[in-house]
Amino acid sequence: MCGIVGYIGQQDAKKILINGLKKLEYRGYDSAGIGLLNQSGVHVFREKGRIADLEAIVDWKITASVGIGHTRWATHGEPNRENAHPHQSASGRLTLVHNGVIDNYEKLKEQYLVGVQLKSDTDTEVIVQLVEVFIGEGLEVAEAFRKTLSLLHGSYAIAMIDAETPDTLFVGKNKSPLLVGLGEGFNVVASDAMAMLQVTDQFVELMDEEIVLVKKDAITIETLDGKMVKRDPFTAELDASDIEKGTYPHYMLKEIDEQPAVMRKLVTAYRDDNGDIKLDQNICEAVKAADRLYIIAAGTSYHAGLVGKQLLERIAGIPTEVHIASEFAYNMPLISKNPLFIFISQSGETADSRGVLVHVKKLGFKTLTITNVPGSTLSREADYTLLLHAGPEIAVASTKAYTAQIAVLAILSVATAEAKGLQPKIDLMKELSIAANAMQTLVDQKEMIEDIARKYLSTSRNAFFIGRAVDYYVALEAALKLKEISYIQAEGFAGGELKHGTIALIEKGTPVIAIATQFHVNGNIRSNLKEVTARGAHACIVSMEGLNEAGDQIVLPEVHDALTPLVSVVPLQLLAYYAALHRGNDVDKPRNLAKSVTVE
Ligand code: M6R
Repeated sequence: MCGIVGYIGQQDAKKILINGLKKLEYRGYDSAGIGLLNQSGVHVFREKGRIADLEAIVDWKITASVGIGHTRWATHGEPNRENAHPHQSASGRLTLVHNGVIDNYEKLKEQYLVGVQLKSDTDTEVIVQLVEVFIGEGLEVAEAFRKTLSLLHGSYAIAMIDAETPDTLFVGKNKSPLLVGLGEGFNVVASDAMAMLQVTDQFVELMDEEIVLVKKDAITIETLDGKMVKRDPFTAELDASDIEKGTYPHYMLKEIDEQPAVMRKLVTAYRDDNGDIKLDQNICEAVKAADRLYIIAAGTSYHAGLVGKQLLERIAGIPTEVHIASEFAYNMPLISKNPLFIFISQSGETADSRGVLVHVKKLGFKTLTITNVPGSTLSREADYTLLLHAGPEIAVASTKAYTAQIAVLAILSVATAEAKGLQPKIDLMKELSIAANAMQTLVDQKEMIEDIARKYLSTSRNAFFIGRAVDYYVALEAALKLKEISYIQAEGFAGGELKHGTIALIEKGTPVIAIATQFHVNGNIRSNLKEVTARGAHACIVSMEGLNEAGDQIVLPEVHDALTPLVSVVPLQLLAYYAALHRGNDVDKPRNLAKSVTVE
């Protein structure tokens, strides 16, 4: 994970780097640092904690027109100041930031760095020390940089400054994302375009095993084996205001509120002038041609995939399996003769999913990525892409991407059914618009939901969410949301499964939140709730209009029964939000986490 930035130009780099790091903080927030180069040398500032902690120790009087910066999600070594980036070579000549994991750093240390006193526990420091060792052996800095990168196994996005070459930023990438941003009289680098939108919207994508020499008025891209690369820039179609919180106290709340608008945007994006679904026919044909679909994803995206399986099987009639990416990679099931692999990922950068993508591509299978980020690694590397159109999701807890993923999977299901000549029994675009209105009703009930959070979750150490059929999948997502930001031990269960063991955990006052949106299991889930209530549980029910009974705590406006997750999840996201808020947690940046999980 981690985020890196770099600047070379005429302005003061410090502010640009720090502002950029603030936009990358979602990638990790264990520590942060910047390295600045000016006539008097290199100045490094590093601090444990957030960018705000770094700002407090930076010497604001120093000006420099070259610099690099880093925000860290710790992998090697404690999240303390010593392990914070930038790291420097023994002489102090070279200063480097890195996002990724170097698998062979210990071997490299043994082979090349005997006698070099390392100051940190990181894999990163090995990189910068290696470059210096190779300079010591007589290589020019650019060659030493290239040689070092060609020895690394693993993932990296790297930016380095050399006190003796002040007109160049040395940059390289493998597996971790990295862009070079182009300006008038300056150039920048960043893990994500968002970080540098403040100064440019023109970016050049870097591919794996490429290195770039970035000067203030030119960039030179080469492959690690020395071939020159020419690549045109693209315009980042991001609105700077999309990445601001505005008047919201937290991104998560803003993103929950944006869900009705995202639904409407998807309806517009995937509808033609006749009101029919508009989707790349090549994608429909690829799905139609598959004898089995394999959905690969992690976390919330995996939960959306579970709902997607139901939609694809029910509407398009194609057998579908859903797999956790990190498991699939090492425990691959038997694959059908003609599969299509569907990768679901908000960021499009999740390393676990990418590992599977690379593997199945080698096996010659077709791939489709459903992502929120055009140009992301998973999007670039798959045969086809479908976009979520959800706008940047900044809060670590995923909300609007989840509902957008389900909506896009529904669109894909209906488009495929139509391509197969089936007549889907759902007017999807109309039903998505109805769901958008229902979501709006729910986000407007914040006070009521906050009261429920106070009543059920303010002191509890654990909580259970139960559901049957598709509601079970929403229970899994609700539990993930609650645990990741409130730190309450929360689990999602299939209602009927509790009595096979888990019910032993129910004691007086244990919150159990049931989801009841499905007619065919409404009676069953209510019986399951009675079973836990009889054992002292503090029961709460989220039901759908038409299935509701007196005393139900949250009643959802009625929507098509294939689309209920779009609305049932909304009050559960809000419950998690308020539970975390009442506990005084950092809602947008929960402990130990990062938004984009780019390590396996
Ligand atoms: O970017 P991705 O959708 O691939 O990310 C997958 C998970 O890391 C992500 O959904 C994670 O579970 C969220 N923080 C949950 O809110």
